[in-house]
Amino acid sequence: MFISFEGTEGVGKTTLIRRIYEHFQAQGSEVVLTREPGGTPMAEQIRSLLLSVNHDEQMCNDTELLLMYAARAQHLAQVILPALAAGKTVLCDRFTDASFAYQCAGRGLSREKLQLLNQNFVSHMPALTFWLDAPIELGMSRARERGALDRFEQEKVTFFEKVRAGYQELWQAEPERIKRLDATQSPDLVFAEALKYLQTVAA
Ligand code: TMP
Repeated sequence: MFISFEGTEGVGKTTLIRRIYEHFQAQGSEVVLTREPGGTPMAEQIRSLLLSVNHDEQMCNDTELLLMYAARAQHLAQVILPALAAGKTVLCDRFTDASFAYQCAGRGLSREKLQLLNQNFVSHMPALTFWLDAPIELGMSRARERGALDRFEQEKVTFFEKVRAGYQELWQAEPERIKRLDATQSPDLVFAEALKYLQTVAA
């Protein structure tokens, strides 16, 4: 099974993924934990380029989108597709929904550009996607507590409001695949809710 995790910054994705990973491991399932952008040495290099703050040159929105997909192509070929072919469960911290939410809804790029990339470079979509949703200010204060902010985290609240609205649009369009989790709840409750959905999908 291919499962992805989405949401704006500081909503508790890492904690939830870790707990779900441990849950699968305890069940004796073979499970791969990975992330985007990144997940392979080369894709992690692309991630550094995407997240680093460069005061000398501003990254243009098309470059950002294409780098996300360059990293994704490498990640799919090297990690996701081989793991799925071997019957493993793949837990992926972000996937194509993040490109819609951040690059289309957030940055304002057209859906056509994204569709072109998805149609040509993404052969597999997650069976289940968890969208951890919380008010932007809550997540931003958690992100600030973690330390130095990356290029995305330095964006204004208005950018993240658009990203959140993008996730909401996706959730409304695909309620079967995308499950919204109320990330203002305690980590225990978020995990319990996620487990219920996992059991429904596995049944
Ligand atoms: P992370 O903070 O969850 O590790 O993700 C890194 C950043 O990359 C995050 O701010 C969201 C952004 N991102 C996009 O803008 N588009 C994408 O397609 C992906 C996968 C991530």
